[in-house]
Amino acid sequence: MALITTKEMFAKALNSDYAVGAFNVNNMEIIQGIVEAAELENAPVILQVSAGARKYANPVYLVKLVEAAIEDTGLDLVLHLDHGADFEICKDCVDNGFSSVMIDGSKYPFEENIALTKKVVDYAHAKGVVVEAELGKLAGVEDAVNVDAREATFTDPDEAIEFVEKTGVDSLAVAIGTSHGAYKFKGTPYLDFERLEKIHQMLPETPLVLHGASTVMPEFVALCNKYGGDIPGAQGVPEDMLSEAAKHGVCKINVDTDLRLAMTAKIRECMYEDPSVFDPRKYLGPARDAIRDMVQHKIRDVMKCSGQK
Ligand code: G3H
Ligand code: 13P
Ligand code: ZN
Repeated sequence: MALITTKEMFAKALNSDYAVGAFNVNNMEIIQGIVEAAELENAPVILQVSAGARKYANPVYLVKLVEAAIEDTGLDLVLHLDHGADFEICKDCVDNGFSSVMIDGSKYPFEENIALTKKVVDYAHAKGVVVEAELGKLAGVEDAVNVDAREATFTDPDEAIEFVEKTGVDSLAVAIGTSHGAYKFKGTPYLDFERLEKIHQMLPETPLVLHGASTVMPEFVALCNKYGGDIPGAQGVPEDMLSEAAKHGVCKINVDTDLRLAMTAKIRECMYEDPSVFDPRKYLGPARDAIRDMVQHKIRDVMKCSGQK
């Protein structure tokens, strides 16, 4: 039982048809739900923390909760910084208990992204921490609709080779049509699998990462809406597309929105079903169970990494 990097789990996943789930964590119940699911499925799992999560919880609480999860379950876990915006936040995480960091320089011009990523890689590798970077821009609902827009935002395979060679990064997040949040597609979902396969062929040793990969599970959206929520028209990445991506070099699949929806749906249900409830354990407990069941489903049926620990 230890805090581990993604090195070995990605090496295994790269030559297999499954991917490892990376789930965003913000509090104790979310961590416990995810870890319990990983334990039940005997699967590897990545716990990731965004800048917003650090601000919400105070960084040290999340690190200590993950350490507690390792001690409690005996699992090997990865603690990863999600979307590190600059060198300083990556350095802070490397210095304070993370085993993996993402430097997200995707908003910068190509050469600047390379220079920033390389700086983080040099610092992190010297301390045994692995680094994920991003090339291309995740499309919003409007962006992926025409070919010109796709060319402007999706990851360019030639640039990807140069980027990985010049930075020495351990894994690469690619833009192929996914986007963050609950509104990913206006019409029919579309992912550029041809582009993904090309990047994978050109970089066969590089684990690829899919951000914005929540399926926006209709049952949770429906439950939220049934119990007073207002989440109309939400749509995520179909499950079969995620399973397919895992066969084309994608080793890490990022999920946050589905956790938010599962937790909110269950809390709404509990409060509506019994308005007399005011003990937080009475709704956070069921919410934690809902997260566990949802993550188990993802690990087993979508990412197909049950038993791969
Ligand atoms: O990719 C973004 C994740 O969903 C984290 O979101 O910055 O609101 O914590 P957040
Ligand atoms: P979702 O919004 O699709 O859950 O994506 C989460 C993510 O990419 C975190 O980095
Ligand atoms: Zn992301």
